[in-house]
Amino acid sequence: MEKFVIHGGKPLKGEVTISGAKNAAVALVAATILCDEPCVLENVPEISDITICMKILQTMGADIQLLNKNVVRFDTRGIINPHVPYEMARSMRASSYFLGTLLGRFHDAYVAMPGGCDLGDRPIDQHLKAFRSLGAVDELKNGEVHCYADQLIGSQIYFDFNTVGGTINAILASVKAKGRTIIENAAKEPHIVDLANFLNSMGADIRGAGTDVIKIKGVDYLKGITYPIIPDQIEAGTYMVAAAATKGDVLVKNVIPKHLESITAKLRKIGVTVEENDESVRVSVDGALTKTSIKTMPHPGFPTDMQPQFSTLLTLAEGTSIVTDDIFDNRFRYVAELRRMGADISVDGKVAVIEGVGKLNGAPVVATDLRAGAAMVIAGLAAEGITEVSDIHYIERGYECIEKKLQMLGADIKRVTVTEVGSVQMSG
Ligand code: EPZ
Repeated sequence: MEKFVIHGGKPLKGEVTISGAKNAAVALVAATILCDEPCVLENVPEISDITICMKILQTMGADIQLLNKNVVRFDTRGIINPHVPYEMARSMRASSYFLGTLLGRFHDAYVAMPGGCDLGDRPIDQHLKAFRSLGAVDELKNGEVHCYADQLIGSQIYFDFNTVGGTINAILASVKAKGRTIIENAAKEPHIVDLANFLNSMGADIRGAGTDVIKIKGVDYLKGITYPIIPDQIEAGTYMVAAAATKGDVLVKNVIPKHLESITAKLRKIGVTVEENDESVRVSVDGALTKTSIKTMPHPGFPTDMQPQFSTLLTLAEGTSIVTDDIFDNRFRYVAELRRMGADISVDGKVAVIEGVGKLNGAPVVATDLRAGAAMVIAGLAAEGITEVSDIHYIERGYECIEKKLQMLGADIKRVTVTEVGSVQMSG
């Protein structure tokens, strides 16, 4: 078992380079199944969710070559059986994308009900609604969803509410369907635009990605291309918040400032200085942090994936802040861990009330999910004393080399392997 040991209280200073976007990469890696030739993805983040996606493809018969650390060649022509290995599929949420992509190519797909971070109930009813609109039928047997269709016919898909995964799966299933598909009430996240750009570069015909109406004309053939994945706006936001929480001065490089608009606006409201450049932002703090209110919304609103990090920052802001997150049933499980460090937060359902405190004190805490784990690291960096963050496998699902990137910014963070009670090996 591994944990991070952090000696807090040091302002982060220097430069950090952002990796490819996890939530784009998981969709694009799954989408390679639709490609009729080998294709290459650049800026592939080295994170465990991607490792699992590539293992799934290899197990199913794809040929995958690491051309260098973040450039990967995919040849999925060797896949003949549309059956995703059960245990791999159930380990993450993004495995649901294999339903759309396998259905789109084979008109048949077997994928375990997806797992992923425990943020409350995470059904896939809207995904199945999209597939059914295209003429597919589905059944659940032994924990596995089986979707199949004689043929997929383009149609109108109307989502009951914004769903990122549902929108991505609707695109994957319809890009080679017969005729036109119109997706209404579509989600507008940057990773949905990135998926559409990737598929269009191969010869797909997808218009309107990034708006709430996406129109798709089915095509028969997708050619091989080389495509760079967009930078991760949530990883960028996480380092921006870490710079603010430690009252540091950090240049965050390889970003698309447009994707950070709601994060930048909130940081400025709290009293953080954010300077925007073409492909980087500089974050610094030269005064007290002040309270604010946050309500998470679908893009372009404030992203739920930044809620734990901002709530942590607000524990150090003067005054009373209110954070409302009703995207998921329960995304405040980390609050109990912050309280161990002296935070003054009360949670009632989907609303957290945060009373600013002068400082946080280091303590042993656990990561309860991916973004909560990042929030624990931020809290440890800002706190006085030593913080140990356990269950860091959650963090490694979405943050490439996080301790090395933080060490480059002057953080005192080490990865420690706990072999058994009392004995530890320092590393990293
Ligand atoms: C994606 O999850 C992201 N995961 C999440 O990021 C992110 O928090 C979320 O979008 C919102 O932006 C990936 O991209 C792999 P939704 P997804 O479908 O697709 C409910 C991270 O930290 N819903 O937009 O699961 C659902 O339960 C992760 O990187 C249904 O009820 O999100 C949730 O309450 C965490 N039925 C809400 O809608 C459905 O069929 C939004 O879910 C689908 C969703």
